[in-house]
Amino acid sequence: MSIISVENLSKQYHIGTKLPYRTFRETLMNVITSPAKWFKSNGLRENNTIWALKDVSFEVKQGEVLGIIGHNGAGKTTLLKILSRVTEPTEGEVRIRGRVGSLLEVGTGFHPELTGRENIFLNGAILGMRKEEIKRKFDEIVAFAEIEKFLDTPVKRYSSGMYVRLAFAVAAHLDPEILIVDEVLAVGDAQFQKKCLGKMGDVGKEGRTVLFVSHNMTALKSLCNRAIWIDKGHIINDGESEAVVANYLHETAKVVIEQNWDDNNNAPGNEKVRLLKARLAPDNKGMDSIITVETPLNVEFVFRNFLPEASLNYSMHLYTMDGICVLNSGSPVFTAKREKIKGICRIPANFLNAETYRVKIMMVQDASVPLYDHNDALIFDVNDIEREGNWYGKWAGVVRPKLDWQVETDNNNAEKS
Ligand SMILES: Nc1ncnc2c1ncn2[C@@H]1O[C@H](COP(=O)(O)OP(=O)(O)OP(=O)(O)O)[C@@H](O)[C@H]1O
Ligand SMILES: [Mg+2]
Repeated sequence: MSIISVENLSKQYHIGTKLPYRTFRETLMNVITSPAKWFKSNGLRENNTIWALKDVSFEVKQGEVLGIIGHNGAGKTTLLKILSRVTEPTEGEVRIRGRVGSLLEVGTGFHPELTGRENIFLNGAILGMRKEEIKRKFDEIVAFAEIEKFLDTPVKRYSSGMYVRLAFAVAAHLDPEILIVDEVLAVGDAQFQKKCLGKMGDVGKEGRTVLFVSHNMTALKSLCNRAIWIDKGHIINDGESEAVVANYLHETAKVVIEQNWDDNNNAPGNEKVRLLKARLAPDNKGMDSIITVETPLNVEFVFRNFLPEASLNYSMHLYTMDGICVLNSGSPVFTAKREKIKGICRIPANFLNAETYRVKIMMVQDASVPLYDHNDALIFDVNDIEREGNWYGKWAGVVRPKLDWQVETDNNNAEKS
């Protein structure tokens, strides 16, 4: 029996209406100094719309653990927002039979001025639980979130990690019949991510329904028996998760070594930062353009910062196609005005293995608050080299560094033994 039923669901957004961060005075000055330009760039044009979801239909049975995959901007979060009633569909119908606990974006559902304790009760009440019921779950939530010491601190003072931990604990423990989790887990540390995945597995085993969006294919395959692949607002594959993930990886393993976006409101990002360029420049000194395990790589990003003056740093994640994180490298923190910022990270030769890699780039504020992250900014292949010797198989290991070896043979004793 279906617990969720989605029929011909579509969602249309107006684009170009999300303004970069500006003070009122600046906006006013812009209108006064160049009114024509201002109205042109910010006017809500009728045809300036996109369909984030178009004609999406599917059913979810009770107890199913459903994974949702797709590229950046595919419509995954939009779908979860509609199912969680955070936003309304433009067309179509959604029927849900059960209480929904959802974790969409850091902080949705929390009141910043209220303490952790008060927010737990508030969320329980919103889910329709009685005070007694919430009290029974309270200790479990606090223990899971590891926020005992900060229970009576307003959540606006929490770090983003604490926020996510509490938000997940609340969503997962307040007995929702349907648990909806977007990729926000990426904010927590690896240990907490594991704990969350374990908890979602438990929720699934208890016969409750879980919808889970992730770019981590390994986690998704192990957690979900079924997956839906969304692309440009359409479902293009729905079935057993192993098969859907395999299709997805196969179809999307296209090498992307450069992407450019116009410097306008539509470049990927938000009102704080936008990504303008991502480029992979192999440093192979005029040799042919094939990247091998011996090619040093320069990974280049250009962002535009819209914050007045901010302390920022880059954080780059490198993943294998299976979603295993090979490394996370952060740039030093720098101060940026409203300007373009270029960051180049150098990956040395003889470090990566022969694999296909995906690059995620993130802009972080104050060394702790993620402002925007972009999956698959780059996708590239590292090839094997022609090797001497007899072994032609792939080398084992996530990385393949050339390490220093010292070998000593005990020549004097060789005869005796
Ligand atoms: N509030 C909004 N106003 C205008 N456009 C929006 C809004 N929210 C989302 N969009 C657009 O709708 C499309 C789908 O976005 P959505 O956030 O659902 O993608 P996603 O699959 O969750 O991507 P990601 O993997 O990056 O999280 C994108 O083109 C996005 O820019
Ligand atoms: Mg999303």
